[in-house]
Amino acid sequence: MWWNQTTRQLPLLGALCLAACTGADPNQDTSGSGGTGTAGSGGQVDVGGSPAADPFEAQADTSEGLVNVSANLEELLEKGTLAGACDAYWAGDPSDRKAMLLCGKSMFFYESYGTVGVPTILPEMLLTDFEDIVGPGFSKLGMIQDPYSEKKLPLGLAKGAPFGNLESVAFTCASCHFGQLPDGRYAVGAANHNYEYGKHNLMMAVFPLIALLGGEANHDPEAIKVIQPLIDKVNNTPGLKLSLTTKLLPLASAGGQTPQFPKEAEHYYATWKSGTMDFLIEPLPLNDTVHTVSKISALWGVPSDAEAEKAGMIHAMLGFTGGTKSLTRFAQEFVTFGGGDGTPWTVEKVRPLVEYIESLRAPQNPNAPNVTLAKQGEALFAEQGCITCHSGPRGSGLDLYSYEEIGTDSAMKYWLDPTLSGEPCCNAPAPPDEKPTHQLKSPRLVGFWAMKRFLHNGSVDSVEALLCKNGPRGTITEPALGDGGHTYGCDLDDSSKDALIAYLLSH
Ligand code: HEC
Ligand code: HEC
Repeated sequence: MWWNQTTRQLPLLGALCLAACTGADPNQDTSGSGGTGTAGSGGQVDVGGSPAADPFEAQADTSEGLVNVSANLEELLEKGTLAGACDAYWAGDPSDRKAMLLCGKSMFFYESYGTVGVPTILPEMLLTDFEDIVGPGFSKLGMIQDPYSEKKLPLGLAKGAPFGNLESVAFTCASCHFGQLPDGRYAVGAANHNYEYGKHNLMMAVFPLIALLGGEANHDPEAIKVIQPLIDKVNNTPGLKLSLTTKLLPLASAGGQTPQFPKEAEHYYATWKSGTMDFLIEPLPLNDTVHTVSKISALWGVPSDAEAEKAGMIHAMLGFTGGTKSLTRFAQEFVTFGGGDGTPWTVEKVRPLVEYIESLRAPQNPNAPNVTLAKQGEALFAEQGCITCHSGPRGSGLDLYSYEEIGTDSAMKYWLDPTLSGEPCCNAPAPPDEKPTHQLKSPRLVGFWAMKRFLHNGSVDSVEALLCKNGPRGTITEPALGDGGHTYGCDLDDSSKDALIAYLLSH
């Protein structure tokens, strides 16, 4: 049937097992932007008698003038020049840092690393015949149309490895890590918490089946609800079903297999909040049998290996389980976990992407909170002990923590290792030096003013709610979705909470 061919069976979803990148990288890249900040936001915090460095000290600008935040999308896309940026860099002077960053930016938006995605006819069909429902460039699902795409694709879907004789599109970093800020500007590195990842996948993979073959009753009712407007349109538009059949015919002869969404998985896809997802779940072949939910992270202020070392971190601690040692490793495993061939993506070849991401900074809050209030918040951040777990670069922690200690939803403890054996499960293509941590990191605390989801599973919808300003949390107890725990600061009075919030929203 469809595109689930044995040797390349990670379709659309397959590009996604990112958090799996746990473990040490023997071949890591130690260059990067480092932590040589200037112009700190002031006030050193005194912890236990010894002055700690300000975790929010401003980082040096290493962007080489690239436009990474702008209200003007064309400007942000360097006026269409990204397409040839890597060819130019690899053919040119290797010490030209600006050329390298342009290549990295081009990779961020347009490189799918040979991962296999979905046959292009599927998104094309949705974008042409159902634009009223999905929006131009899937904008109604939280994506952003690429002004330079002839096929009117969104940023974040780019040409993937060919699927038999069919063209495919696969994910690039931009689908999830590029977005629009509350003030309307676009920003690279933003966590795209508007992206309806689960619903988008159901529309691409489950809808066509039902449209052509029927059988609604065999599917999860919530999943049907998601695709119902599409089904209704097919039923109410004379000739549409026939034209869809014709358009999708090439899929039948492509030799792949329809991805199998068990009802339970369909239900998860239908009900995840925007900006959240599970990567190790059917129809992905890599299924760790635990339902875990992660929110998309912002990629602002990611520490370079050198900075992490200098700060006293065990390594860059990427991913919510904190096991990924470096950005280089993270990028490489995006490829291998996504069904691509990792061989060409050496440290050297991913360096432009890595250095580009390291140059991204959280954009300034246009409604900067009151400075005096934020100063009070800074003092509280120390007094209340927040700083003990958030003292590293941009407020990230230097250690990993147990779910028991933090008290937040613990489904993630079993991530990639349902039996807590200490080894990655399910034939994950993880390097031997990668082990599940069963722990949790304390994330960087920058760019919150532009974020919609908090805690690793995205269960909390504002900083106010995190500090229990709207009342106690912990009412959602469904495994993986729980919103309890991390109650630090919840017992403060409202004005102290406001001060802490002002501090958190000021960087
Ligand atoms: C379809 C969505 C999606 C795509 C595509 C995607 N990511 Fe992510 N990314 C996520 C989610 C969700 C998380 C949080 C998971 C976790 O850290 O456990 C994440 C986390 C990360 C982190 C960890 C950040 C931190 O501070 O711990 C890095 C680094 C990252 N992604 C880089 C990339 C790069 C580089 C690409 C492109 C090669 C990419 N991602 C593509 C969804 C995506
Ligand atoms: C014992 C260590 C510890 C202490 C103390 C602590 N935190 Fe955290 N913090 C964490 C960990 C671990 C997480 C990740 C929890 C999760 O995602 O489930 C976190 C998450 C957060 C987040 C959400 C980040 C995100 O991206 O969703 C914020 C905001 C935060 N902490 C602020 C604070 C403040 C403010 C205080 C003090 C009132 C504080 N923390 C005290 C360890 C700690």
